Amino acid sequence: MGIWSTKSIARLQQEEEGGRQELRRTLTGLNLVMLGVGAIIGAGIFVVTGTAAAQHAGPAIVLSFVLAGVGCLFAGLCYAEFSAMIPVAGSAYTYGYATLGELVAWLIGWDLMLEYLFASSAVAVGWSGYFTSFLRDYLHVELPRALTSAPFDVEPGGHLLHATGAVLNLPAALLVGVITVMLVLGMRESARLNNVIVVVKITVVLLVIGFGAAHVDTANWTPFVPENTGTFGQFGWSGVLSGAGVIFFAYIGFDAVSTAAQETRNPQKDLPVGILGSLVVCTVLYMAMALVMTGLAPHATLNVAEPVYVAIAKGGPALAWLKPIVGVGAISGLASVVLVMLMGQPRIFYAMARDGLLPPFFGHVHPRFHTPHVATIITGAVAMAVAGLFPIGLLGELVSIGTLFAFAVVCAGVLVLRYRRPELPRPFRTPFVPVVPVLGILTCVGLMVGLGLATWLRLVVWMALGLAVYFGYGHKHSRLAQGESAGTGGAP
Ligand code: ALA
Repeated sequence: MGIWSTKSIARLQQEEEGGRQELRRTLTGLNLVMLGVGAIIGAGIFVVTGTAAAQHAGPAIVLSFVLAGVGCLFAGLCYAEFSAMIPVAGSAYTYGYATLGELVAWLIGWDLMLEYLFASSAVAVGWSGYFTSFLRDYLHVELPRALTSAPFDVEPGGHLLHATGAVLNLPAALLVGVITVMLVLGMRESARLNNVIVVVKITVVLLVIGFGAAHVDTANWTPFVPENTGTFGQFGWSGVLSGAGVIFFAYIGFDAVSTAAQETRNPQKDLPVGILGSLVVCTVLYMAMALVMTGLAPHATLNVAEPVYVAIAKGGPALAWLKPIVGVGAISGLASVVLVMLMGQPRIFYAMARDGLLPPFFGHVHPRFHTPHVATIITGAVAMAVAGLFPIGLLGELVSIGTLFAFAVVCAGVLVLRYRRPELPRPFRTPFVPVVPVLGILTCVGLMVGLGLATWLRLVVWMALGLAVYFGYGHKHSRLAQGESAGTGGAP
């Protein structure tokens, strides 16, 4: 048993039986689509689209959405095969353990922190922007800038952090704190609230698309692909690629559905429905929304904390009534994204602790609330600090690159398992293997290339830290390595 040991599918399924007693199975297919859309539509479309259009792609950000959406579709098809076959908590981490070995699984698990924990912080920062302006515009409460923005930032494309003079993004940190408490108290109630918010959020997006479309000035779409400035990633076709890497963030979340596998009533059928259904709904909405936003306002004006407000304002007085509605939609909608992200992370920690790769307290389930309360509180505390200290641009790119990496590994995992264990029952089969997984890997790596050197360096540092933790703790405590409990280990 060593760093390349894999966990047998039989053992994973056995653990799933065990988990059934611990976490409650309450979620249906529709709940999962709602959970997925709840996780997907958020700061990506409400904030990052503006920045990405202004800095990278102009109106061609629509093409970036297509590119990133295609990458997600390939990865989503691969996720669906795994999540239906191994419907256990832990998402890509668990799939990695079954196919590519413990070390790779650990690295994915560590990397997924970028996707879930850091994403919840990034979205909380986006939420803070809309919340602060809502307070100012409608309740006449002006919070000081020092308490509503990040104390640290980096220059565009730069490497080093500098102080901005602000103290803390207080609303962002508080939001994470409140949602953490909700999650500790119970999953079912939070899923219900999430359903209501998702409906509100989709309605708001549809209103902006529908009413905004009538006020589009097509001159804003010319040139559709602004000329490259001479620097890679600043407009032109490289800008479309960079834009796709940056707004990839907007798609993150459909795979959060798979982290709820142990709380799903009929995972074999419901998980693929949840993952693919939520992805298709969001892709269509995003493309339409991006067209409308860049049609209403010149793209250079969208580089602000609330670009949807700017776009609506440019549409003139006829759209003024939309502003408070967008405010309410963004405030409730972004909060629901934070909720799903903060729910996904502890369940990955739970799976890692169950395998001995993290200390056992990460796996404790509350006797009354049936939630992994310790991991939830730890996640919440770290996410609060990150949300309070860093800006959305920095966090968003880090989240994108980390998630793209995990997606590429999941695509590779489907290939490996089809080759090693072709006979395993697969309730959902990724179509056109090996074409889809290979295209998935290529698209994800292509989008990572669009993200630039500084973000790559941060990913490398993060992963190096992960390796140190693995060899310092997980490697020595791994249950698989110690041959504990049932299951045969070895190749699946
Ligand atoms: N997809 C999520 C968002 O856009 C992370 O906020």
